[in-house]
Amino acid sequence: MAVPFILDRSGPDPLHRQIYEQWRLGILAGRFQPRQRVPSTRGFATAYNVSRTTVSAAYEQLIAEGYFEAATGSGTFVCSELPDRTMRPPAALRRMPPQASRISGFARRLDTDPRVSPTVSGRLDLSRLGPDLERFPFALWRRLLTRHLRRLSPAHFDHFAAPGGTEALRRQIAAYVARARAVHCTPEQVVVVSGSQQGLDLCARVLLDPGDEALVEEPGYAGIRYLLSAHGAVTVPMPVLPDGASVRGISRIPRVLYVTPSHQFPTGVSMSLARRLELLDWARHHRVLILEDDYDSEYRYSGAPLPAMQSLAGDVPVVYLGTFSNVMFPGLRIGYLVLPEDLVAPFTRAKWLTDRYTPVLEQAALADFLGEGHLDRHIRRMRRIYKVRRDVLVSALARAFGDDVTIVGDAAGMHLTARFRGRTPAARAERQGVQLRSTASYYLAQPPANEFLFGFAAVGERTIREAVRRLSDR
Ligand SMILES: Cc1ncc(COP(=O)(O)O)c(C=O)c1O
Repeated sequence: MAVPFILDRSGPDPLHRQIYEQWRLGILAGRFQPRQRVPSTRGFATAYNVSRTTVSAAYEQLIAEGYFEAATGSGTFVCSELPDRTMRPPAALRRMPPQASRISGFARRLDTDPRVSPTVSGRLDLSRLGPDLERFPFALWRRLLTRHLRRLSPAHFDHFAAPGGTEALRRQIAAYVARARAVHCTPEQVVVVSGSQQGLDLCARVLLDPGDEALVEEPGYAGIRYLLSAHGAVTVPMPVLPDGASVRGISRIPRVLYVTPSHQFPTGVSMSLARRLELLDWARHHRVLILEDDYDSEYRYSGAPLPAMQSLAGDVPVVYLGTFSNVMFPGLRIGYLVLPEDLVAPFTRAKWLTDRYTPVLEQAALADFLGEGHLDRHIRRMRRIYKVRRDVLVSALARAFGDDVTIVGDAAGMHLTARFRGRTPAARAERQGVQLRSTASYYLAQPPANEFLFGFAAVGERTIREAVRRLSDR
């Protein structure tokens, strides 16, 4: 019989009810057409191995409600007229122009779409700002996941009461940020989130009301600007100078201030100690909470590593945000917040309400990845690799463009910024198959015409040399 039905023999609904429902919904959805012949009760019963009485009960109900009609002597058919107007097949309704859906102010203020720009095949891609995924020890990661799949009982995969993250992972994160970034905290101050982007979203939910002002870096990370605006906050630009974001001359007193002091996004500059102290003094004086996004701090190639600003903050409240996207892989979707003690409860409640908690299996594997020293080893190894790539990129750009290029932000991180004078590489990039990323979208005000972000971590040295050669017309 050419009419597929799925009957659940162990479910709570009796079979005649299931047969009735599937015919009814199929007719309403246009799956069965008016006047279509319906299999006989005997044929249906044989095809689905159910009793004829069961099928007859369903058919009688369908006839009584006007979905089927029986023609004496020639069989049963789907009714040519549907029972009433409200039961028109959705297919027919779909032909009418749809009513506009109402969306919230939050949704109306969202003016960004997921920015996924896959590498175009045949192009040399210098626009990717993330890590080299080919070098991540996925075999080891698989072993850790498998270990915990075996170890964890089924009960661990039910809802459990740790929206802020497993104790094992929070302990490991507290130890990691203390040794790697000099962050002061206890495991109780750590809240595990699904990437630092979720951490930023929780900050907006917990700390801001519509109309509140937030200072953001100019140029700066678009992901925070869009988020704050969608939540109804007003973003106020804070200029980024060669030694980091500066609050000098800012007359408005915001509720929060967002900074990326280790490796400013997108310029890549590191905030000097003097600027950090200036900013902390200002925040202390005006009672402004600091959001420190330390997204790209682990790789530093020259000079002494600068500790996180949180470590200098003393009595100034700082929400510190970190992520494993760059030191591991973005698809992991695990980041963390280190919170002032009085904010732990509201953030944990907001995390529970918005998505319960971050996946348990990955948290368990990650706690071991940190605890067994794999992360520290991986970072040490990648730092050597990325440093070579950075050096190759810097010298290739300098050779190709000479005085026409100024490179900033190359002391740390996975990308640097290059400003070009005179000729722009954009047109040549297009012609020569090189994918570049302009910094224009990171500016609130008029962006400089000739500024590009160069990601070097995910690209091999040969590719970097070849891409820069193609960009240069020398
Ligand atoms: C400055 C900055 N902060 C935060 C994020 C969010 O990263 P994730 O959610 O992957 O941790 C990004 C990544 O795009 C970023 O560039």
